[in-house]
Amino acid sequence: MVPSSLRRFYQKHHYVRLPKFLNKKLLREILKALKKSKPFRYQDSGGSESMIGENAGSNTLQFLLNDPSLLKKIKEITGCAGIRSFTGRTYRLLPSYQDSMRWHNDLVYGRRVALTLNLSPKPYQGGILQIRRRGSKNILHEIKNTGLGDVVLFRVASFLQHRVTAIGGKNPKTAFTGWFCACADLPFERSKKIVVRPNKKNGARWKIPQGLLEYSKDKKRIIFDPKRSLLCELDPVAGKMWDHLKKRPHLKLALRELQKEYRVAPDVLEKDVLSLAHHLNAHGFLKNV
Ligand SMILES: [Fe+2]
Repeated sequence: MVPSSLRRFYQKHHYVRLPKFLNKKLLREILKALKKSKPFRYQDSGGSESMIGENAGSNTLQFLLNDPSLLKKIKEITGCAGIRSFTGRTYRLLPSYQDSMRWHNDLVYGRRVALTLNLSPKPYQGGILQIRRRGSKNILHEIKNTGLGDVVLFRVASFLQHRVTAIGGKNPKTAFTGWFCACADLPFERSKKIVVRPNKKNGARWKIPQGLLEYSKDKKRIIFDPKRSLLCELDPVAGKMWDHLKKRPHLKLALRELQKEYRVAPDVLEKDVLSLAHHLNAHGFLKNV
């Protein structure tokens, strides 16, 4: 349950702050990954920015923000029951270009709630989020989100508009931003979904590569490699096998445990587990040792 004060604040003011949204370890990893990425300039009628292309940091955030337990909390805070997924990107506003974003409402692709997460290691000037009623000149809220790892959620609605004021000073503003949407698809267009089917035999010992993320969604197990932006989707039975493969990196041990749960012939079970291991191995989600 989220505190009712958050819900009330969001209902009244159309935004809410979630300080220290990321834990320190995750924040460190995200910032490290962002350092390796190469931004490119982007400009349109809505404003200008340096867009930070696909990278392990943004991929990690995007995946974690699609975790069903997180989506549930966002629904509770915002009252938007229709939220089903999140999609976002990382951008940087540069003082040398006086980057900014003009008034707009983000009301496309089923967007319901916007999120901005501050990833600026140094304090920046300007780059302030402003919210107004559509067409009004009065600013309803002016929100400075300067705490590293802090999040601001704000409502996407036809009666509201928002903008980001020009960045000033010496330091850039880096933020991960995106939207909780009504559409169900995970936003990894360039990822290849792996559908596990029975196949041939594989080795009997394995290890799981580091850095994989996972959760369950719609009864499926979703495993994600943020470095490769590669998604693996397992049905419930394969998901259960995956749990055993992780805990017991040896075929005999995994089979022994699975045999307790599934009343199938041992040779059939072995074939299925090896088949799964083979496919996971073929796509780099499991390594033979
Ligand atoms: Fe926006």
